[in-house]
Amino acid sequence: MSSLAFPLADPARRVADADREAIRAAPGFGQHFTDFMAHAQWREGEGWGSDEVIPFGPLQLSPAAAVLHYAQEIFEGLKAFRHEDGTVWTFRPEKNAERLQRSARRLALPELPTEDFIASLRAVVQADEPWVPSPAGEQSLYLRPFMFASEEFLGVRAAHGVDYYVIASPAGAYFPRGIQPLVVWISDSYARAGAGGTGAAKCGGNYASSMLGKKEAQANGADEVLFLDSETHTAIDELSGMNVVVITKDGRLQTPALTGSILEGVTRDSILQLAADRGLAPSEDRLVMSEVLDRIASGDIVEMFACGTAAVINPIGEFRSAVGSWTIGDGGPGEVTMSLREELTGIQYGRIEDRHGWLTQLV
Ligand code: COI
Repeated sequence: MSSLAFPLADPARRVADADREAIRAAPGFGQHFTDFMAHAQWREGEGWGSDEVIPFGPLQLSPAAAVLHYAQEIFEGLKAFRHEDGTVWTFRPEKNAERLQRSARRLALPELPTEDFIASLRAVVQADEPWVPSPAGEQSLYLRPFMFASEEFLGVRAAHGVDYYVIASPAGAYFPRGIQPLVVWISDSYARAGAGGTGAAKCGGNYASSMLGKKEAQANGADEVLFLDSETHTAIDELSGMNVVVITKDGRLQTPALTGSILEGVTRDSILQLAADRGLAPSEDRLVMSEVLDRIASGDIVEMFACGTAAVINPIGEFRSAVGSWTIGDGGPGEVTMSLREELTGIQYGRIEDRHGWLTQLV
């Protein structure tokens, strides 16, 4: 039982059906938001309360709110999927709840219990049910829970006042080009996270530190940036917001081992399970970039992909750096990549049996 109920405050505040349908016809990613959001507050000594679902809209925040100065903030990303029978489900929400709790510990924020996290998702999706797209075209409702230090205080210490929200956004493909193979720029100037830092936490700061690398990537005609480990600058870490996976010629799946500076992706974890189910001998390894590039050139690595909740599974077609470029396989979407994508989305949209019990019904 959750202790927070998230009652709906003002059910009448909805956009017109025609406006919602116009957005749903071409949602893009992260550009449009629904009618409602969930909210709760935490106070030192009191715990969580003030839970409610309220109309989506601007926040009232003191300019001295600690988050604006010291970035004490964490977030999550997950999706609600409409099945053919009209029901709405989400995927492994307890994993996101646990990661939010780990992120909270790292950023010295309060932990939100798993059942309250799931209650907040259910409350928003029930209020925003008309926004959940039909399964055609693999659209979904992207859910973005986040928590931040709202206390008006400029001393540097863990905040005594924290706000939690869940906003929702109808989502199509994450990349503007759709599921096309990505060109990925290998950053030799920047790292995303360092040893002992916040790399494994899902906090805004990790994404802020990726932006300049991504700008550099785009200036070099690439879609994404790949960061190497900050200590030796040799091993693959992750992209700006996605984990990386390798498929070998002899049918093995490899992904960088979790080092503390890599985000523990729920999609990454699910792919490791699906790979084991189909005998792809998944392994979590230290993947040295120069060796990966040699293995691409020799044909030992035949496919690579990026994975995350937002992007799902997206093939990588080419790496680029200041010294050269490397095409993976024939540069097109790989067979194993696309079949893992089909299986994962098949489970999420209820087309394939949920044999691991990964789905939770929301509506
Ligand atoms: C996700 O896949 O949900 C992410 O967090 C990536 C990005 C949109 C931040």
